[in-house]
Amino acid sequence: MDEIVTQQATGEKNQVSLASRNIVMDVRDITKSLPLGRERIDILKGISFQILSGEFVSIVGPSGSGKSTLLGIIAGLDNPTSGQVLVDGIDIARMSEGKLAAVRNQKIGMVFQAFNLIPTLTAQENVEVPLYVGKHKGSPSARAKQLLTLVGLSHRLGHRPSQLSGGEQQRVAIARALSTDPAIVIADEPTGNLDARNGENVLSLIADLRAQTGKTFIIATHDPNVASHADHAIRIVDGLVGDIDATGGRITQ
Ligand SMILES: Nc1ncnc2c1ncn2[C@@H]1O[C@H](COP(=O)(O)OP(=O)(O)OP(=O)(O)O)[C@@H](O)[C@H]1O
Ligand SMILES: [Mg+2]
Repeated sequence: MDEIVTQQATGEKNQVSLASRNIVMDVRDITKSLPLGRERIDILKGISFQILSGEFVSIVGPSGSGKSTLLGIIAGLDNPTSGQVLVDGIDIARMSEGKLAAVRNQKIGMVFQAFNLIPTLTAQENVEVPLYVGKHKGSPSARAKQLLTLVGLSHRLGHRPSQLSGGEQQRVAIARALSTDPAIVIADEPTGNLDARNGENVLSLIADLRAQTGKTFIIATHDPNVASHADHAIRIVDGLVGDIDATGGRITQ
């Protein structure tokens, strides 16, 4: 409320700077088309949305609608055919691979459906890995222990992924995504390989972490239960944003 009053009182110029201060991700007219035989298929046809600092946003839509493609692009793992992805005001869509790797390491944590942990490393070592990639303050092992404690795995530091349950592996992956203290955590179907109870545990963990850390969480999901935990849902239909549901994401698919 105060902010709205301030914006009205100080005019349009400040309105823009106040608004942009809180936008951690600004996705502008993203398209993605890929060759398929002699044709090209248009997977994303012009997606735009903004995500504010500290928001928990779900990306929903039917299978094949382009959620994973979109997540890969906003995480800087894939290039769009056209459009911009501004992270803290900087376009990552056309960045060189070297610079992009640094942005991913510092600003974005990623969680995958299939956990994607390194099988030969222990839980603690998996969480330490991103801290050896860029320059980070403090001791990687102390940070990894702290994060594994935060996700309830202080008793599993020395276990390898094969010695952990699915829910535990996903909690290690979440700890790893948080290790470099990124502003944004992006998760693609993080509960997709878990049973209902473990899925619910991972989800409440994400909600707790969001409350404790103030980080932005962007989660692609089929699961209406996941979407209902989010502040709002961005629905992808036919390669476009169908609607943005600000009512807590109670949507049926
Ligand atoms: N490398 C590729 N080459 C050609 N088509 C692709 C490629 N990758 C994805 N697609 C197609 O793009 C569409 C979107 O795929 P995507 O994986 O983004 O969907 P999704 O919404 O994540 O689906 P799901 O809910 O099943 O995970 C699909 O029709 C898929 O077949
Ligand atoms: Mg997918």
